[in-house]
Amino acid sequence: MAQPLYSTHLGMTDILPDDVRKWQYLEQLIRTEAELFNLEEIRTPIMEQTELIIRGIGQLTDIVSKEIFSFSRGDDNYVLRPELTAPVVRSYVEHHLEQRGGSQKLYYIGPMFRAERPQKGRQRQFHQFGIEVIGSDDPVADVEVIAFMIHIYQKIGITNTTLKLNSIGDPESRKNYVEALKNHLEPNLENLSDVSQERFKKNPLRILDSKEKEDQPFIDSAPLITDYLSEKSKKHYQKVKEYLTDLGISFETDPYLVRGMDYYTETAFELISPDLGSQDALAGGGRYDLLVEEIGGQPTPAVGFAAGMERLLIACEELGIPLGGEKEVDVYIVTLGDSARKWGLSKLSKIRSTGVSATMDYKGRSMKAQMKDANRENARYAIIVGDHELESGKFTFRDMADSEEEALPFQEILKLLEKEKH
Ligand code: HAM
Repeated sequence: MAQPLYSTHLGMTDILPDDVRKWQYLEQLIRTEAELFNLEEIRTPIMEQTELIIRGIGQLTDIVSKEIFSFSRGDDNYVLRPELTAPVVRSYVEHHLEQRGGSQKLYYIGPMFRAERPQKGRQRQFHQFGIEVIGSDDPVADVEVIAFMIHIYQKIGITNTTLKLNSIGDPESRKNYVEALKNHLEPNLENLSDVSQERFKKNPLRILDSKEKEDQPFIDSAPLITDYLSEKSKKHYQKVKEYLTDLGISFETDPYLVRGMDYYTETAFELISPDLGSQDALAGGGRYDLLVEEIGGQPTPAVGFAAGMERLLIACEELGIPLGGEKEVDVYIVTLGDSARKWGLSKLSKIRSTGVSATMDYKGRSMKAQMKDANRENARYAIIVGDHELESGKFTFRDMADSEEEALPFQEILKLLEKEKH
């Protein structure tokens, strides 16, 4: 085989037809379940203003400092969206979605871009589905968001997951905690990694998210954020845990879970799977009560999550969960000779107009090759046409599964196909 001249960029993959069927199956399932939860789809552009992403996610996060794909054109700075929470909030503020009344319960499915080092379950173009509920500070909203996330995996058949839960509190709680964390880390500052030393100055909470080996002993012995929660935050966290328990959703509390974006407040959570290897987070999310205001809107509480589609597919594969069916077509018209080809071409649209899928040979191949092709395409029926059939007005209608054949007028074939389809 000739060496291809071009290939995809590092960490970006084509989704080929056999895989697209799996994706479509999952996307359909997510859409159906989202409707059940009374969520509405939102679609925003692939590119956003760089400033929005920096302000929304936080200057010192890995995403902003190392992973955004950005470029400028004229006076405008573009960034390929690394996530959708900040863009959805931008859209909410820009279009005054609060005027629609109630909480906005939104879902999305689409591609995101992060210039990370690719590995299994980590790509530079990847896909997320997620939801954002904007306009409620009630713990019921947190729990509904988590319940939807868990529901999707259960529906697909992925049940061996762990829900990790934490609260990072309101700004007051966090201020007190950051003080305690700094006091804990300061005596060993020079033993921390360079990144953590930098974060110590600008955003110490991010140190808890460090994967650097030398930081681990200091993280493990750090004070717990949950010991510093204000009364209000404590109450909120308590209610979330209580409602989850009432719904039979089990969870593990993890006081070091701070998540990778700066916008989080109060509840933070991740869904972990043992079937994913080192990139073990299927999904993650939490509250972001200050983000709407940060992006220029009125103070508005919000909560959401996003899940990686690629990781979902990996988990399905590991667990042997089949997704989508085989490629198939209802009818394959096998033609012999020019007149038959013309007849076939004109009948394709007649068949398709009844909702039955149909195809024919595009290459003028022999009958044997066309029958082989019909099998490869998983055709349910073949209609075989040659000069003899055209003269008699009866066409061979063949059931490909049991090879039963019958000579029938086209109108009768059409009726049979229609009857079976509906
Ligand atoms: P995140 O934790 O950055 O959160 O991403 C959510 C999920 O996207 C991850 O758990 C993972 O499954 C998937 N993911 C992230 N990066 C990659 C990658 N490079 N390759 C493959 N999959 C990846 C967010 O994006 C937040 N916006 C979630 C959120 C919504 N919080 C509130 N609302």
